[in-house]
Amino acid sequence: MNILGLNAYHGDASVTLMAGGRLQSAMEEERFTRVKHQAGFPSLAVAHALGAAGVAATDIDHIAISRDPSAHIHRKLMYAISQGPSLATIRDRLWNVSKLRDVKTAVAEAVGKNESDLRAQVHRVEHHRAHMASSFFVSPFERAALLSIDGFGDFVSTMWGTGCGNRINVDGWVEFPHSMGLLYTAITQYLGFPNYGDEFKVMGLAPYGEPEYLDRLRALVRMGPRDGFELDLSYFVHHSQGVSMTWESGAPTIDDVFSSRLEREFGPRRRSGEPLEARHHNMAATLQALLEERVLGLLRRMAEKTGLSDLCLAGGVALNCTMNGKILSETPFQRVYIQPAAYDAGTSLGAALFVKHQILGAPRDFVMDHTYWGLEYSPAACRAALDAKGLSYRELSDEALADQAAACIADGHIVGWYQGRFEWGPRALGNRSIVCDPRSASMKDHLNQRIKHREGFRPFAPSVLEERAGEWFEQSGASPFMLMTCQVQRDKQALVPAITHVDGTARQQTVSRESNPRYWSLIHAFERRTGVPIVLNTSFNENEPVVNTPEEAVACFLRNDMDVLVLGPYLTEKNGRAGH
Ligand SMILES: [Fe+2]
Repeated sequence: MNILGLNAYHGDASVTLMAGGRLQSAMEEERFTRVKHQAGFPSLAVAHALGAAGVAATDIDHIAISRDPSAHIHRKLMYAISQGPSLATIRDRLWNVSKLRDVKTAVAEAVGKNESDLRAQVHRVEHHRAHMASSFFVSPFERAALLSIDGFGDFVSTMWGTGCGNRINVDGWVEFPHSMGLLYTAITQYLGFPNYGDEFKVMGLAPYGEPEYLDRLRALVRMGPRDGFELDLSYFVHHSQGVSMTWESGAPTIDDVFSSRLEREFGPRRRSGEPLEARHHNMAATLQALLEERVLGLLRRMAEKTGLSDLCLAGGVALNCTMNGKILSETPFQRVYIQPAAYDAGTSLGAALFVKHQILGAPRDFVMDHTYWGLEYSPAACRAALDAKGLSYRELSDEALADQAAACIADGHIVGWYQGRFEWGPRALGNRSIVCDPRSASMKDHLNQRIKHREGFRPFAPSVLEERAGEWFEQSGASPFMLMTCQVQRDKQALVPAITHVDGTARQQTVSRESNPRYWSLIHAFERRTGVPIVLNTSFNENEPVVNTPEEAVACFLRNDMDVLVLGPYLTEKNGRAGH
């Protein structure tokens, strides 16, 4: 049974391939086009996924796409009639429907075939069911409560239910125009971060402020009927003017969704590039507090109604690590699983899994415990990329590689660490990472200014040996996907200032020897030298998607201030010492 899952004509376009019922690859189109959050159809990812697995397009049995224009159609029509939709809205919707009809053609074109060559059956899986499937069906839980929460998808912003074995049941949802994800987007825009996906920056900004406006901001979102919530629409324009988004190709864009009332009550918006002041920090802190209040409240009601102790989360809001880090302490849930690509990219996985289990009835047989589902490149390809730039390098054994790289890190050098298959999801977790010394107080500013070229307030995250994590972080259990913020142990905070955020927290990745032996060995070698089982880990990129090929890694290494590059088994240093 070969299943091709797609997230297409939407932000973060992606593909998931299952061959013989087993997951082969899961990849985002942005890694190939080099455009962040690439929308449109994931043609390159489809071609690479099939090519790497040796699966012919003619052998695909099922194509699953995570959009269903007919879902909630009754509610959509009612809403359209009540609002009097513009011609543009109708045209956009028809365009989307026609695109979805052509999905088989698009797959065929991606691999140079005709649509008539493909025998695959096409399935449209409603957006939030795909989100919930993406998490529950690869979780370790036989039964769990499920929550999908994002901006919007298929007219819905939030959906909850339960999973049992190979079935998902939906218990409730929140429809357009009400959305916690859209509220977060609105305030993110108000705070001067206009790009698709900038919500992450506001989460990083929040710990610098106090939730000073919480009483007033609560008015923007109140508890609604049937366990959901409702926006006060006078602060928004998306319901009246439509959400103007561009999905067709390139990076997605989204116009302002907040109304002038927000500025009248909370002061003028910050324009991109203007200084960040205390009131901006406080607004970010207030937004974060409000999100946590509303979502944790919903989770408490879900726990009470279902009586379940395990929870699976998905949707863009499930990337809010600060909120996630409070679930175990502030709700009755005892275990949480969040699929690493919780945002829309993950719906290609969810659509494929929904077809496999819910539609075809296959039993569950897999837990996703690592993110290395992308392409990999041979040592010969790594060597060729180094030779092409005339770099000198040494080939080292795994043990020597870990030891030498750890020595460089302990000496204060910044090391590009490139190994194996690239990661699925937004985080680099040890195969396309830049790593350096967490003990250095100046490292955060240096990295933000000289390597990543991004805002100075943004924090960096640690990778810690799983077996030592409890000594350094107040966490319970493994956290392999860097999706849960927790406190750094109080007596350790001063030892690792580069990964300790202003509020004493960190967004840690626990690394097990089984899931990534080379990365584990690197951190272990660093601990042998320094007594600290932690490295600072940031994604291998510079205001672009995370690097994919060895050539992209070498180019990124050469154009910024990295000192050392480990590319597969090869180690090269900028000052040429590696060749001696
Ligand atoms: Fe979504």
